Amino acid sequence: MPYQITLLPGDGIGPEVVAAAEAVLQALPVDMDFTRAEIGFGAYERLGTPLPDSTLDAIRSSHAALFGAVTTPPNIPGYFSPVVRMRQSLDLYANLRPTRSISHPSSRPGIDLILVRENTEGLYSGIERVEDDGNRAITERVITRRGSERIIRKAFDLARQTGRKKVHVVHKANVLRQTCGLFRQVALEIAPDYPDIEMLEMLVDTCAMELVRAPEQFQVIVTTNLFGDILSDEACMFVGGLGVAASANIGADAAVFEPVHGSAPPLVGTGKANPTATFFAAAMMLEHLSETEQANRLRNAVETCIAEGQVTPDLGGTLTTSGMTQAVIAKIR
Ligand code: NAI
Ligand code: MG
Repeated sequence: MPYQITLLPGDGIGPEVVAAAEAVLQALPVDMDFTRAEIGFGAYERLGTPLPDSTLDAIRSSHAALFGAVTTPPNIPGYFSPVVRMRQSLDLYANLRPTRSISHPSSRPGIDLILVRENTEGLYSGIERVEDDGNRAITERVITRRGSERIIRKAFDLARQTGRKKVHVVHKANVLRQTCGLFRQVALEIAPDYPDIEMLEMLVDTCAMELVRAPEQFQVIVTTNLFGDILSDEACMFVGGLGVAASANIGADAAVFEPVHGSAPPLVGTGKANPTATFFAAAMMLEHLSETEQANRLRNAVETCIAEGQVTPDLGGTLTTSGMTQAVIAKIR
């Protein structure tokens, strides 16, 4: 039975990098059926919504989805972020952001960490209001036991599955006593279930500093939504930046893999879009499908191309998107 894969090209360079990843996946001996579904501003212009229900249904009924990027239009009344809506609608509660050193002069060596970010609550719960004639703005930070428990378990399980030995629980419980206090409390309750994994606590400001000072000390970081958003972007800059960074959004019933970058409108049609981040997202997708050997094969092919300088201009090379795609396919074969 082939894997059913939904491709979500989106806007801007999204379709270019997704097509590149599709070509590379087709070069691997894994049986996959690809279907395309609409998302983004282009979808809004064509269909009147940036996230049609049919797209959500397609993701739900497939084994995994690979998403490119979307463009955020200038203020349009009634427009919503299809990415945030997709994560909420499919309850994709775990955002995984691996940060690994690559063989490139701009990359720091010795880094191999996974940041596990809670993806549905925290400061991004969407509960906001203004009071006092617009002079007082309030955002509510919601942390639940259920939300904390499932993301912290995900982090410990992932540590175990990948042979990692420690998990840093990152919070600010000394100030955010209730919300971070609950997150921390749940972590302390769960940690004894994983005697083989060491749990360490770190305040988020210390973590931001330590990531710059000595990123190689981290193996798994688990944290709440906003903190994870910021720390994961910080970490990716040590290992090649936006052209390289990939992420996964995992729920109980669906999984969406994507490059971290946006739709990069100035790059559209220039051939300068780096497909590496989407290749790494595709490798994470293969891992999620338990195709570990093929995931490693793809990752190794991409890493060899990087080491040999067969890369796009953002990494100092001269290849186009399709040139790099062909180079990776040549390494796979
Ligand atoms: P961006 O990630 O599209 O671009 C930022 C910078 O990185 C630009 O200089 C761009 O040229 C470069 N870059 C990005 N991806 C690259 C790649 N694959 N290869 C080589 N260089 C690359 O972020 P920006 O410019 O802030 O946003 C552009 C649009 O994308 C906006 O409408 C924004 O809302 C949207 N966006 C969408 C995201 C998503 O779909 N997940 C995430 C971030 C932004
Ligand atoms: Mg971000």
